[in-house]
Amino acid sequence: MLFDFKEIAGKERYKLLVSTVTPRPIAWIVSQDAQGLLNAGAFSFFNAFSGDPPVVAIGMGNHKPGRPKDSLVNIRETSQFVVNLVSEENAEQMNITAIEFDADVNELEQAGLTTLPSVRVKPPRIAESPVAMECELMQIVDLGETGLVLGRVLAMHVRDDLVLDAASHYIDTPKLRLIGRMHGRGWYARTSDLFDMPRIPVAAWKMKTGTASGAAGKNSR
Ligand SMILES: Cc1cc2nc3c(=O)[nH]c(=O)nc-3n(C[C@H](O)[C@H](O)[C@H](O)COP(=O)(O)O)c2cc1C
Repeated sequence: MLFDFKEIAGKERYKLLVSTVTPRPIAWIVSQDAQGLLNAGAFSFFNAFSGDPPVVAIGMGNHKPGRPKDSLVNIRETSQFVVNLVSEENAEQMNITAIEFDADVNELEQAGLTTLPSVRVKPPRIAESPVAMECELMQIVDLGETGLVLGRVLAMHVRDDLVLDAASHYIDTPKLRLIGRMHGRGWYARTSDLFDMPRIPVAAWKMKTGTASGAAGKNSR
């Protein structure tokens, strides 16, 4: 079935995107306003887009027209934030921090979470999260109802028991037990159903297909 995005309303476009582009990782963001008031929120329009420079991006919308998410207001104001990743054990507390509280509510307190100091930015990290990235704002791309926040990762904290080999920077990824956001308002995925598929070197592909270019069939040259 074709859904022509020119013909449908914004809400329906959103629905189609979030029920197909899945699973999405979740950025559990801690930020502060200029007075130091702490704020936490969950964002699944999130991913890493470059390793070097290390860049993450987060799409932050409005609570309602004219009232942007508090995280976006804080990041505009202070240019710093921490992206914490969400494990299965963190799921319920993450969901509490995503309640649409007023701006003066500290969601971390509401969810019974504790914080640890950051080393490169002012906002602290969530102690209960397995991975935290200290970030500084690079740019906010204005997408209308959404601000796309591009952040440079300055430092990463990984819980000690999740590091396989610190010198080689090997992390025990399955042990992070991270969750991803799926469709609808409440579906999530675990990251425990894995399979391994090694990359194919071009020489191995040529040998297998018996062609010089690797492309079998009448279009190959
Ligand atoms: C798993 C999950 C993912 C979410 N992803 C987004 C998102 O990508 N963008 C967004 O604007 N809101 C998203 N929300 C809603 C915000 O978390 C919610 O509006 C929150 O109150 C924002 O907090 P803040 O106003 O303190 O920044 C998500 C909520 C949940 C539970």
